[in-house]
Amino acid sequence: MKKIVIVNSSPRKNGNCDILCSEFGRGAVMNADNEVVRFNLNDVDFDFYREDQTEDEFDNIAHQMMDANVIVLATPVYFYSMSGQMKTLIDRMMPYFSQISNKDFYFILTAPINKKEMEPTAESLTGFTDCLNDCNVVHITYGANVSQKGDIINKPAYKEVFDIASRIL
Ligand SMILES: Cc1cc2nc3c(=O)[nH]c(=O)nc-3n(C[C@H](O)[C@H](O)[C@H](O)COP(=O)(O)O)c2cc1C
Repeated sequence: MKKIVIVNSSPRKNGNCDILCSEFGRGAVMNADNEVVRFNLNDVDFDFYREDQTEDEFDNIAHQMMDANVIVLATPVYFYSMSGQMKTLIDRMMPYFSQISNKDFYFILTAPINKKEMEPTAESLTGFTDCLNDCNVVHITYGANVSQKGDIINKPAYKEVFDIASRIL
């Protein structure tokens, strides 16, 4: 049994990241007794990283991530990088990141552009995971060529996330 924490950083309800995160969660419990904990950062009240940070709703996410075997980070492409919500989450990991070790990461990206054009965004996420101990990026799903909510349902990424998650045993 694995504990899987899914973090969706898109503010769009029923948007393409939202749908892919749901499919990942569905696949993750298909063949195994995995525990899935899901956060939509749009619904989380948390601040930027600050020098004298006080506790807010972010700290629960950090603890859940430390406790997880698998972490899924989902972001739309915003100006060829990740969303501000995801960047804030990563920056807030500063006091915690040395305690994040031995995890499998999966990235989910969505954008109207093609896979090649989305690669700088994936690299911006690996800027975080490269700083962690004994963590692997197992798979990156490129939800390419999507714009309107729901476009992703007709793209290969939709089945891909389900299949990949269903192999987490
Ligand atoms: C602030 C902002 C910045 C964006 N920047 C880009 C971009 O650089 N390249 C691009 O192809 N799409 C860009 N988009 C479009 C989003 O990537 C696109 O709408 C994506 O499908 C949203 O994903 P979601 O449905 O998962 O929220 C941007 C959208 C917003 C709101």
